[in-house]
Amino acid sequence: MGPRGVGAGLRWDKVSYLTWVIIFMPARASMDPSPARAGKLLAPYASHGPPQRVPAKESAMKESVAVPGITIDTETVGDLVTRDYRTAAILEQFGIDFCCGGKMPLATACREKGVDEKELRQELEKLADAPVDRSQNYAVWELPFLTDYIVNTHHAYLKENIDGIAAYTKKIAEVHGSHHPEVVEIAAIFEKIAADMSLHLRQEEELLFPAIKRVAAAAKAGTAPEPGDIEALKGALASLGGEHDEIGAAVHTIRRLASDYAIPDDVCNTFLITYRRLKEFEDDLHKHVHLENNILFLKAAQF
Ligand SMILES: [Fe+2]
Ligand SMILES: [Fe+2]
Repeated sequence: MGPRGVGAGLRWDKVSYLTWVIIFMPARASMDPSPARAGKLLAPYASHGPPQRVPAKESAMKESVAVPGITIDTETVGDLVTRDYRTAAILEQFGIDFCCGGKMPLATACREKGVDEKELRQELEKLADAPVDRSQNYAVWELPFLTDYIVNTHHAYLKENIDGIAAYTKKIAEVHGSHHPEVVEIAAIFEKIAADMSLHLRQEEELLFPAIKRVAAAAKAGTAPEPGDIEALKGALASLGGEHDEIGAAVHTIRRLASDYAIPDDVCNTFLITYRRLKEFEDDLHKHVHLENNILFLKAAQF
């Protein structure tokens, strides 16, 4: 830019400045606090200092349920999922069992599944910036509410679906069993799961959950629980916990036989639907058993 241009710029700057002084200075002067008002405004600063601003990223991390604090060597898989249920989906992607295998330290689970710890940690830490659904904070729910939730969601799902899935597995065993002998085995295993599960749900709904509710109510009221309730509760926790392991192992066997629910080329739509429903059953079971093993049973055992 030549000297002419510079001079023109300077002249314009002077005009702009004068305009700013004439128009805005009186307004600024009227906004200036009087000494008394200034004292009032500054009082909180004098006692507490200026308000602290939390950077956006840091506040998002506080919203997450402590995923950034993972101690992969000592923390168990179940504890991690209990702290933040969003981790369940990531563990599933890496093939790590968080329900029946919930007592295993993360590092051991990684070794057993051949998972790169660093890669898993990176994926888990991404959750720090993702929103948290407070309605999924199961670990802080009162136990009677948690038992009702389990009955109304997971038990309801099983009652509605388990016979239908058993019928589908039988059907594909009949139609495709000669070319795919694995589905004959799958049908037999699922039939046993369905029978065992029906008994298991009844024991939880008729024995364990009511006992948990009574003992929790007594604890809340500050009164002693019935001795029979504590005994029934401890016995039920031991046997039903063992049944979770058996059902979990059976479901793992189905997944292995089904080659992770891969659909062969030469099968019909019923086969495809059966595998999808088996996968859905497994997903639901993982969450169901996690809520019971790692939260409900663990807390009930401390009564
Ligand atoms: Fe259950
Ligand atoms: Fe159960």
